[in-house]
Amino acid sequence: MKKLEMLYEGKAKKVYKTDNEDLYIVDYKDDATAFNGAKKGTISGKGVINNKMTNLVFKYLNENGINTHLVEELSERETLVKKVEIVPLEVIVRNIAAGSFSAKYGVPEGTELKNPIVEFSYKNDALNDPMINNSQIEAIGIATAEEIEEITESVKKVNELLQKFFLECNIILVDFKVEYGRCKEGIILADEISPDTCRLWDKDTREKLDKDRFRRDLGGVEDAYNEVWRRITSR
Ligand code: TMP
Ligand code: ASP
Repeated sequence: MKKLEMLYEGKAKKVYKTDNEDLYIVDYKDDATAFNGAKKGTISGKGVINNKMTNLVFKYLNENGINTHLVEELSERETLVKKVEIVPLEVIVRNIAAGSFSAKYGVPEGTELKNPIVEFSYKNDALNDPMINNSQIEAIGIATAEEIEEITESVKKVNELLQKFFLECNIILVDFKVEYGRCKEGIILADEISPDTCRLWDKDTREKLDKDRFRRDLGGVEDAYNEVWRRITSR
């Protein structure tokens, strides 16, 4: 597989073309941003952990019936993935109130939710990724009603599988964000699942083991990422 020119550089990853038109290479960076890029920093070793963790988690999901873009890990930071057209939605699931949900609805962080929430944000930096509902998504042509239904059913299954996975590591899955992409096979899970994109709390102490340590200047950012990696590899 030959790595060709860079197609796109995001905040945390670069995407390259390859000599196979159906495959891309993603390359994970240590760069960290928050608040739509307003806060910038580096989390040393993050790219390696996020690459390896995403692949481990995607493999687990794959084995449990979720189709993902993962093809093959190429190196510590690089992975071969299926080429998809990303549906420009941040698909968020919440099990416990935190973050923007707590702020928006005045529900204290840590409150158990009576049912998992599925919500969407429109992936658009210029607009600050606004929250968007199903009929708005349909109305402006981001996705069809059938696609929204398929994504919603899939992400609920992903949530159940991930909750189980992390509980086996003594970690509570508070919430997470994923993205889906269209390809020849239909709509498949893409992007990443890592401490950048999940809220992960220690089950006993509720200590934060995710990017909130960076967002909120809590310190111990690298240690938290390493701890999650240690737990999921000894699960
Ligand atoms: P929020 O509470 O800030 O809306 O975040 C919900 C979840 O989505 C949380 O696990 C962090 C993740 N997330 C991302 O992966 N990327 C983002 O740009 C944002 C805002 C949140
Ligand atoms: N995606 C956010 C940013 O653009 C980061 C985050 O809060 O996860 O900076």
